[in-house]
Amino acid sequence: MSSEDSPRPGARAPRGFVDRRGPALQIERRLLAAVSSVYESYGFEALDTGAFEYADALGKFLPDADRPNEGVFALRDDDDQWLALRYDLTAPLARYAAQNWGDLPKPFRRYAVGPVWRNEKPGPGRYRQFIQCDADTVGSDRPEADAEIIAMALAGYAAAGLARGSVTIRINDRNLLNGVLAANDIDHPGQRLAALRAADKLDRLGPGGVADLLGAGRLDESGAFTSGAQLPARAIDAILAFLAAGRGARGPTLDAISTVIGRSQEGDKGLEALARLGAALDRLGVSEDEALIEPSIVRGLEYYTGAVFEAELRPNGVSATDFGAIGGGGRYDDLIARFSGERIPATGFSFGVSRIAAALAMSEAAGPPPRGPVVVLALDPQLMGEYFAMATELRAAGLAAEVYLGVAGMRAQMKYADRRLAPAAVILGEDEFAKGLVTIKDLDLGRVLAVGVRDNAAWREERPGQVTLGRSDLVAEVRRILGAAP
Ligand code: HAM
Repeated sequence: MSSEDSPRPGARAPRGFVDRRGPALQIERRLLAAVSSVYESYGFEALDTGAFEYADALGKFLPDADRPNEGVFALRDDDDQWLALRYDLTAPLARYAAQNWGDLPKPFRRYAVGPVWRNEKPGPGRYRQFIQCDADTVGSDRPEADAEIIAMALAGYAAAGLARGSVTIRINDRNLLNGVLAANDIDHPGQRLAALRAADKLDRLGPGGVADLLGAGRLDESGAFTSGAQLPARAIDAILAFLAAGRGARGPTLDAISTVIGRSQEGDKGLEALARLGAALDRLGVSEDEALIEPSIVRGLEYYTGAVFEAELRPNGVSATDFGAIGGGGRYDDLIARFSGERIPATGFSFGVSRIAAALAMSEAAGPPPRGPVVVLALDPQLMGEYFAMATELRAAGLAAEVYLGVAGMRAQMKYADRRLAPAAVILGEDEFAKGLVTIKDLDLGRVLAVGVRDNAAWREERPGQVTLGRSDLVAEVRRILGAAP
C-alpha cells in the first residue's frame, strides 16, 4: 500500500487526556511531594498497585453509568477475564487489603499517588486521566479516624501552597439522609438511591428541582424528563428540611439536623458519628470555617456508608473558575467485605492533584517559573568536545547545563537560551579558546535590564551582563550569576 492510500493520522491527543510540559509538571511534582510528606508525617505508609484491576474487583460504583463500559476503560485479557483501568485508588486498596489483611498492621494506614482513568464526558477540570493522591485508614470505625483524615487533608492543601482559609471541607454522613428516609418508612433500595441522587443536585437545581426529583419527576429546559423517586409529600418535606439545616458552625448545624430528621437507628448513628467527628476536629485545631457540616453533601461514588467529605476552593481563593471539588472522601465500611465477607471499616480522602495543579498554574501561588539550564552555545564545530567538557564541569558542580545541539547561528542560539529561561549562556569561539578565555552572558540580568532599555542600539552598546574571563573561572562566575539572581 502506498503512503497516499493511508490518510495521515491527526496529531491530536484524545479528548480528556492532557499533555503537560516542564513548568506544569514541576508544579504537579512539588504538590505531590508536599502532600505525600504531610501524609507521611501522620504515619501513613506508601503503597503502589497496578493500573489495571480485574473489572469485578473494581465493582460498579461510579456515578457515570451511561458511558461505554460504565465509566471505566476495560478490555478482555487473553484468558477471557475482563480487566479495567482503575477509576480511583480506593477500589484497588480495598482489593489489596482483602488480599493481604492477615499480614498487615491493623489499622492499616496507607497513602498512594498515581493516575486514574474515568471514561466520562470531558469538560473544564474534568479529565479522563488525572492524578490522585489518597490517604486511607483501613480497619478503624472510630469517627476520630474520619476527623484525622479531614485535618490531614487541610494540612495537605496548606503544604501544597493553598493558603489556610482558601479551602473549605464540607462534611455530611449518609446515615442522616437514610435516617430521614427510615423515619418516613422509605425502605426500597431503588427509592433510597434516587433520593440520594436528587439531594446531590441541590446546588444545581435548588429546592424546587430536588422536590420534583423526589416526587413525580422533573422536566428540564431541554424538554427531557427524569422520572422521580415517587416519595410521598411528607417524606419530601422532611428531606428538604434536612437539606436546609446547615447553620455554618458545626454544633448548631447538628442541633438543627437532630430536630428535623425524626427518630431512627440510622439517623441516631449519623448524629453520634458527626458529634464525635466534630469534637475530634476541635481538638485537632480545625476551625469552624475550614470544616463545616453540610447536609446537602452526598458525593457520587456509591460505596460510601457513613461520613462523606468534599473539599472546595473558596470563591475568593486561588481561582474563581468552576473546577469542581478539589478533593473528597468518606467512609466505606462495606467495600472490603465484598471480597472476604469480613467487615473491615475504612475511611479516606483523595486529593484531586490535576485540578489543584491547574488552579495553581493560573495563580500567583505557583511562584516564579522554574529556571532553565545554563546553555553552552555551539559556535564552532571544532570545539564541540570543549563545549561538552564545560557542560560536564558545570553539572559536576551541581549546576544544570546543556550544550546547544542544533545548527543555527549565534542569534538563534541566544534566542533559544532565552526561551529555555537559561540563567546564563556560555560563549566560546576559536580566539577565546586559543587564549584560554570564555565569555559568559548573564541572561537573568539581561532580562531585568531589558525592561528599562528601549533603544536597541543602546542595548547592544551596553552588552548587559557579559564578561570574558579565564576558562578556569567558568563555574565560579556561573555560580555568582545564579546566586545573585533576583
Ligand atoms: P472522587 O470525588 O471521585 O473521590 O475524586 C476525588 C477528587 O479527584 C475530586 O475531588 C476531584 O478533585 C478529582 N477528580 C475526580 N474526577 C476528576 C476528573 N474527571 N478530572 C479531574 N479531577 C477529578 C474518589 O475518587 C474517592 N476514591 C476518594 C476517596 C478516597 N474516598 C475514600 N478514600
